[in-house]
Amino acid sequence: MNRRTFLAQTSTVALAASLAPSFSQLSAATPTPAAGPTYPFAVAPLAYDAAALEPHIDAATMRLHHGKHHAAAVTALNAALKDQPALHGLTVEQLLRQRETLPAAIQSAVRNHGGSHVNHGFFWQIMRPVGTEGAGGKPGGKLAAAIDAEFGSLAKLQDAFNANALKVFGSGWAFLVADQAAGKLRLTSTPNQDTELAATDRTVILACDVWEHAYYLNYQNRRADYLKAWWNVVAWNVATRRYV
Ligand SMILES: [Fe+2]
Repeated sequence: MNRRTFLAQTSTVALAASLAPSFSQLSAATPTPAAGPTYPFAVAPLAYDAAALEPHIDAATMRLHHGKHHAAAVTALNAALKDQPALHGLTVEQLLRQRETLPAAIQSAVRNHGGSHVNHGFFWQIMRPVGTEGAGGKPGGKLAAAIDAEFGSLAKLQDAFNANALKVFGSGWAFLVADQAAGKLRLTSTPNQDTELAATDRTVILACDVWEHAYYLNYQNRRADYLKAWWNVVAWNVATRRYV
């Protein structure tokens, strides 16, 4: 697969702020200079009602997750950057990529809260109520072909993705990425709020939050049940547009 077939890296936060329809246009955006929101960062509203993902993801979890967990990360990120005016023109992805050159006092905040912001911003976008944006359906286009070629079938991808997500010890994220260097799809995971979304050599196709706060109210300790249900609300149209 030619690397030019992949979408250019984009600002996921810009995407979240746009609430979707212009996704493909944003995907073509040049990452520098700033191609997305900068300080002060904000949590974009959900593109759907908090109850709209039920019964797969319950409304209370969505309200808490989006309105409290994600919001707390953004508040903490902004607090860390407040006295760093030289950084106020950077997107969260740029901050993450430059993390090791930032003042030592804010590196952890950028890693944890910046990562949380970009991860969650994408997570809200890659989920949709069943019957909208391909949720409850299947991937299409070149993504469907790539999944069949590399995993054998959608069901096999889901099994492999779930197994990978179950292996995340403690809190973290599971990803399906389009790896440009290898020219193929790849399953990855990160601990805590580390993210694949700031990488410049791969495009995130899917991301699933496997922190307990993402599922504990409804599924308690049953991460496997949450993962199984999560596939019902994956916005395949959004995922398909990320892989062209
Ligand atoms: Fe989360």
